[in-house]
Amino acid sequence: MKFFIDTASVKEIREAASYGILDGVTTNPSLLSKEQGEPLAILKEICSIVDGPVSAEVVALDKDGMVREALDLVKIHPNIVIKIPLTKEGVKAIRELSQKGIRANATLVFSSNQAMLAAKAGASFVSPFIGRLDDAGHVGMDLVREIVTIYGNYGFETEVIVASVRNALHVVDAAIAGAPIVTCPFNVIELMFKHPLTDAGIKKFLEDWDKIKKRGQA
Ligand code: E4P
Repeated sequence: MKFFIDTASVKEIREAASYGILDGVTTNPSLLSKEQGEPLAILKEICSIVDGPVSAEVVALDKDGMVREALDLVKIHPNIVIKIPLTKEGVKAIRELSQKGIRANATLVFSSNQAMLAAKAGASFVSPFIGRLDDAGHVGMDLVREIVTIYGNYGFETEVIVASVRNALHVVDAAIAGAPIVTCPFNVIELMFKHPLTDAGIKKFLEDWDKIKKRGQA
C-alpha cells in the first residue's frame, strides 16, 4: 500500500517525508490557496522533496484548456501527475493526455460509473472522495470497495487513490478494501502513529530501566 500526503504545505511534506513512509503527494487548488507563494514554485519544491507522483490540478473546464494547462504543469517535473475533474471534458482530456504518455488522476469521483469512465479513458489514478461522501450521508468506503472490485474484475490498471480522508479509521478501511493508495492530510498521518498503550509502555520501560541504574549505584 502506498501512502501519499494530501497537502500543499512544504513544511508538512518535509516532516512526513522525514519519516521515510511517503510515496507521493496530492494537491488541489484549495490546498494551494492556503499556502504563501506561487503555485508552480510550490509544486516544484514539492517535487524536490518527494520522489513519487505529485498531483497538480487543472482549473480549465474545457478539454483544450485542460490539456494546455497540463502541458505546462508537466514541464515542472517528470513526477507531476495531472489532476482532472471527472466531467465529459475531463474524460476527453484524460484520453488525450494518456495518448501523449502523460499521467492523469481523475478527481472529484463520487460513483463507480465515474471510476469506470476514468479507467476507460486511460487515467493512471482515480480519486474517490470518501470524506465528502460520508459528510453527505453516504458510506464513502462502499465506493472504494466497489471500484476495487470492478477494476479487479476487468484488470483495469488505473490505481485507486482513496481521497478526502478525514480520520485514521478511513486509512484502515481503505487498506482492508485493498485500495493500492491512500492520500492523507498531515494530521491523519500524525494520528496513525498514536496509541496510548505505546506511550504508557515506553513510560514503564524507562521507569524500570531507571530502577536497574539506581540498583547499580547502591
Ligand atoms: C484529493 O486528492 C483531494 O485533494 C482531497 O483529498 C480532498 O479532500 P477534502 O474533501 O478534505 O477537501
